[in-house]
Amino acid sequence: MAKLKTIYICQECGCESQKWLGKCPECSNWNTMVEEIVDKAKEDSLHSSISFSKPLNINEIELTDEERYNTSMEEFDRVLGGGIVKGSLVLVGGDPGIGKSTLLLQVSKSIAESKKIFYISGEESAKQIKIRAQRLNVETSNLFIISETNISVIERMIEEFRPEVVVIDSIQTMYKSELQSAPGSVSQVREATATLMRIAKNLNIAIFIVGHVTKEGSIAGPRVLEHMVDTVLYFEGDRHHTYRILRTVKNRFGSTNEIGIFEMKGNGLREVKNPSEMLLSGRPENVPGSSIVCSIEGTRPVLVEIQALTSNTNFGMPRRMATGIDYNRVVLIMAVLEKRVGLQLQTSDVYVNVAGGLKIDEPACDLGVALAIASSFRNLYIDSKTILIGEVGLTGEIRGVNFIEKRILEAQKIGFNRCIIPKENIKGIEIIPNINVVAVDNIYEALDEVLGG
Ligand code: TYD
Ligand code: MG
Repeated sequence: MAKLKTIYICQECGCESQKWLGKCPECSNWNTMVEEIVDKAKEDSLHSSISFSKPLNINEIELTDEERYNTSMEEFDRVLGGGIVKGSLVLVGGDPGIGKSTLLLQVSKSIAESKKIFYISGEESAKQIKIRAQRLNVETSNLFIISETNISVIERMIEEFRPEVVVIDSIQTMYKSELQSAPGSVSQVREATATLMRIAKNLNIAIFIVGHVTKEGSIAGPRVLEHMVDTVLYFEGDRHHTYRILRTVKNRFGSTNEIGIFEMKGNGLREVKNPSEMLLSGRPENVPGSSIVCSIEGTRPVLVEIQALTSNTNFGMPRRMATGIDYNRVVLIMAVLEKRVGLQLQTSDVYVNVAGGLKIDEPACDLGVALAIASSFRNLYIDSKTILIGEVGLTGEIRGVNFIEKRILEAQKIGFNRCIIPKENIKGIEIIPNINVVAVDNIYEALDEVLGG
């Protein structure tokens, strides 16, 4: 095969150069030169399977549901929007060691009963994978392990043996020999992904690619991969906790922001069907600084505990810290508490933490954060069967939120008996048995109701 010519192109201004440069001579940006193959058409013509379909009139296109494979893991199917779509390219991203390989091996196990699967690893040897598979009780004759990193070889192999599902672990180890840059560089990752996309679409097979997350939190450089694939899933969690959350960031075949929750056990990942119960298990009852909120994750309401701790500042600037929730949001809520309620937080260090390692970003959790801080500051506890729902506005008003009934029903299901909601939301909601719904207009009313003033 003739060697393909590559050049370096600045990603900011398009300036071309024959060799790599740290600084673009045109726009003076640093680190923007990326290696690219010059003649795309030539590369394609080398590939024998080139084909094109005739342009279709929009009226002639028949709509059929995408064909999907169901795994026996409900949580995994849900994040994909109802199962693995044939011919889709799915990226599973996450920190090293979080459990991506484990998850995909388990998924392979659950679909290998009827489908032929290729598990292609550039990170571990076949023996290492076998050891892991033994731990996960994988017993099937349909799962094939391949240790390979050359993407052209992989392409040939897939064309030859036609598996129905392929797992690539990980995209950072794959390379195309035409490119000089090292595996894991932006150009290698992009070319490898483009090849895999073409295979997935041409042969109509589902391909999963594992991607490690860089320190800045994006997968392999400037999010190049996310634009190219059909679905992006992030596997996250605290390595010190056993819980792992699989989150949909992008999905061409379903809704985004869906989550699946798993627990890492000695023999692999176990699905957590009822996340609220899991997140609330072991919470302290009737202690100051703890409140329960309801966050909507995708289509599911999830109850979460917010913890706050205030303590006297010993010297200098008071410290504020937020884990699992936006720091600026916490600072804003504290400002409202200081100004509108007169809570003297200026001389206190304030720490806010979302228990269980979950990250929440819904304004509907504001009221819970505000009351957890007030509860710790005043050293009064919030009744442990009370749940708080509402957005806090800058004038101290409590604003309405969406999905109010869904949230109240979830609280009732878990056994809560009092629910504080915004006044705006009380209209039109049906009476829900066994739960006392209290509507509040502003933050003082909420404090009065929950902490007695
Ligand atoms: P791994 O899937 O290798 O992570 P990644 O592919 O994202 O880098 O999983 C790594 C961790 O999971 C490792 O620290 C061991 C742990 N683990 C278990 O706790 N139980 C198990 O059954 C398996 C297979 C792994
Ligand atoms: Mg791995």
